[in-house]
Amino acid sequence: MADKEHTDPERMEKIVSLCKRRGFIYQSAELYGGLNGCWDYGPLGVEIKRHLKDYWWRKNVQERDDIVGLDGSILTHHAVLDASGHVGGFSDPMVDCRHCKGRFRADNLEGMKCLPKPSCKPGEGPNCDLTEAREFNLMFQTTVGASADENDPNAIAYLRPETAQSIFTQFKNVLDTTRQKIPFGIAQIGKAFRNEINPRNFTFRSREFEQMEIEFFCRPEDGLRLTDEWLERRLTFYEEIGLPREKLHVLDVPEQDRAHYSKKTYDIEFDFPFGRQELEGVAYRTDYDISKHQEHAGKPLEYFDEQTKEKFIPHVVEPSAGCDRTTLALICEAYAEEEVTDAKGKPESRTVMRFHPRVAPIKAAVFPLLKKNEEQVRICREIQRQLGQDMNVFYDESGAVGRRYRRQDEIGTPFCITADFETIGENGEELKDTVTLRHRDSMEQERVPIDELLPRILERIR
Ligand code: GAP
Repeated sequence: MADKEHTDPERMEKIVSLCKRRGFIYQSAELYGGLNGCWDYGPLGVEIKRHLKDYWWRKNVQERDDIVGLDGSILTHHAVLDASGHVGGFSDPMVDCRHCKGRFRADNLEGMKCLPKPSCKPGEGPNCDLTEAREFNLMFQTTVGASADENDPNAIAYLRPETAQSIFTQFKNVLDTTRQKIPFGIAQIGKAFRNEINPRNFTFRSREFEQMEIEFFCRPEDGLRLTDEWLERRLTFYEEIGLPREKLHVLDVPEQDRAHYSKKTYDIEFDFPFGRQELEGVAYRTDYDISKHQEHAGKPLEYFDEQTKEKFIPHVVEPSAGCDRTTLALICEAYAEEEVTDAKGKPESRTVMRFHPRVAPIKAAVFPLLKKNEEQVRICREIQRQLGQDMNVFYDESGAVGRRYRRQDEIGTPFCITADFETIGENGEELKDTVTLRHRDSMEQERVPIDELLPRILERIR
């Protein structure tokens, strides 16, 4: 999809339907009509998300000695978000329709539908009567403590709108307790909440979502260079999990669209079936955040460089990725329908999720050719037990093997293992203790000794 505006609503509908049918993603509180903008990840969706987060953590924390982790609280002190500017300014412009009572993001009317007349955009229907735009703060506010008086400003807390702020407010503690030296980073994966005016495009714009953020602290003169370096590193990451480079696009955000404190921001965008949209922002935030917290808290947050004997407020480069958006991109990219020939040479169509093995929810499925053959079942259960210590394995003995393959194709399992009569030595010694290993994308099968399964599969999923 080279064209920025190109969309494929039919494909998106099929993806959403498969997500529900096979247990990737369900509407939250569907039983009660659904909670708009909130989603529950089913047995397969939760696995993709876990693999994605694990790989991000491994690449950014485990394999580096200049980035450490943090898991901050979701409930956030009002003073933190006052200092960061969220209380005063984290808002989107909103208009109401006096006729249908719909509420719309004023800066995105093009992409919206009038509620009584969906063929029109808001404002263009026969009875539309839109108000002037006003700012709507996107934060969810709550009160803390059983005895909290709703009007006591000190009892107010917020569900965090980004994970970044706890990194900034804990910057000094992390510095003092880890002996890190600039440049170094703090990474965090966790939930964030925004009361989006119009959640849309499945999980793409939700009210509850997860972020994977790094705040990389550096000297002022290194900020721009590190922003470019992070951009390249993040593009490589997306390729490593199976998003092709040609569907990833870099938007060098023009100055008038950047936050006022940012000297450079790149958006990494992806060609979704609903158009080209942002996956991640890589922003050079200068010394804005730490300066603001130093000013509001009235406590020194400078960094002391022992070599140069200088004291300064660190600058920050921030790669901020959306976990749900990336999961959605992986699902959209994986979805394929194709014509194939079955074992009897007859044409048939198959739906296959071509996940990179690294993020596939289930890595291997194990089948006895005949469920009544006790020895085949015993061997398959043993393979499941052995592989299961390192990966998700699915055991299936029901239906024809061809049907079992199709079921695994549809959920993206990259490897299927079948134990047959050769495995148990019924047709001679030569193929005893070997199984067939079937590859999802090529559908090719090869004969592999049982002992070789684990290293062969591990090599592909790590
Ligand atoms: N700390 C910087 C920050 O939060 P952002 O561009 O507002 O920047 C970063 O958010 C990423 O978080 C986005 O690129 C996107 O992937 C994800 N994100 C933001 N709002 C979202 C929403 N309503 N639903 C799902 N993901 C969202």
